[in-house]
Amino acid sequence: MEFVMNGRPPVEIDTSRPHPARMYDWYLGGKDNYPVDEAMGRQMLALDPRVPVMARVNRAFMHRTTRWLAENGVRQFLDIGTGIPTEPNLHQIAQRVAADAVVVYSDNDPIVLAHAAALLRGTPEGRTEYLQADVRSPDAVIEGARKVLDFGRPVALSLIALLHFVSDEDGAHDLVQGLLSELPSGSYLVVSHATADFTPEESKAATEKLKAAGVNLALRSRDEFARFFDGLDLVEPGVEVPHKWHPELGEPVPGQDDGVIPGYGAVGRKP
Ligand SMILES: C[S@@+](CC[C@H](N)C(=O)[O-])C[C@H]1O[C@@H](n2cnc3c(N)ncnc32)[C@H](O)[C@@H]1O
Repeated sequence: MEFVMNGRPPVEIDTSRPHPARMYDWYLGGKDNYPVDEAMGRQMLALDPRVPVMARVNRAFMHRTTRWLAENGVRQFLDIGTGIPTEPNLHQIAQRVAADAVVVYSDNDPIVLAHAAALLRGTPEGRTEYLQADVRSPDAVIEGARKVLDFGRPVALSLIALLHFVSDEDGAHDLVQGLLSELPSGSYLVVSHATADFTPEESKAATEKLKAAGVNLALRSRDEFARFFDGLDLVEPGVEVPHKWHPELGEPVPGQDDGVIPGYGAVGRKP
């Protein structure tokens, strides 16, 4: 675990196998990926050409949920599985609504650490920090986040396109409940997640290809997704495909309605 305050510490990037953060960057048209990521990305596209649309739909879900949370008074954000910076980043959206919003980003991929400086340019009134940590070590995440966030006040915990990289064996549901147990009443959970519910054949093929390349994907059904929100009050409209969650808060993603987006998104409030 390491905080990056100024500059970039040296980090080791493994370019011998694809990494989720870099593949996602490639889908989004970014430049922070390697031939191995592009090659696997192209294999995913061959299975389902809508993968880049899905990535943009997911990103747009983050934009709208963050805006909704900030407009509804949330001033602290803990974003785990941040990804490579892609503008607008979460802190830019939150601080556009509320300049004093405080954001802690966290990811376990060294490539995100290498680009963390771009995540730290927040407003003078607010604060943004980056924490290098693995969500499967939640105590380290909480310990680091506590140094920046006031856990006596509501926090939005955002786990966007993260939990399908955390298996049931790693205790994904308990992990989320454990993180939520640290947060006070009035806090929120935001999750988006890939599913095989709509496209079982393509999803199975994609999961197998990724597994062979060392990336484990845990696709979850609607019920399994909804279980992450046990004990929370779901914000309207509840569990939805991501682009149907408060579409009025952003612009539609071109192509989002041309077929199935195999994912779910939801926001829940801790009572
Ligand atoms: C698909 S990207 C999502 C990025 C961003 N949240 C978004 O939705 O635009 C998934 C991110 O989760 C990170 N990740 C995967 N497993 C993780 C883990 N065990 N701990 C922390 N981050 C993880 C990856 O490195 C990657 O940056």
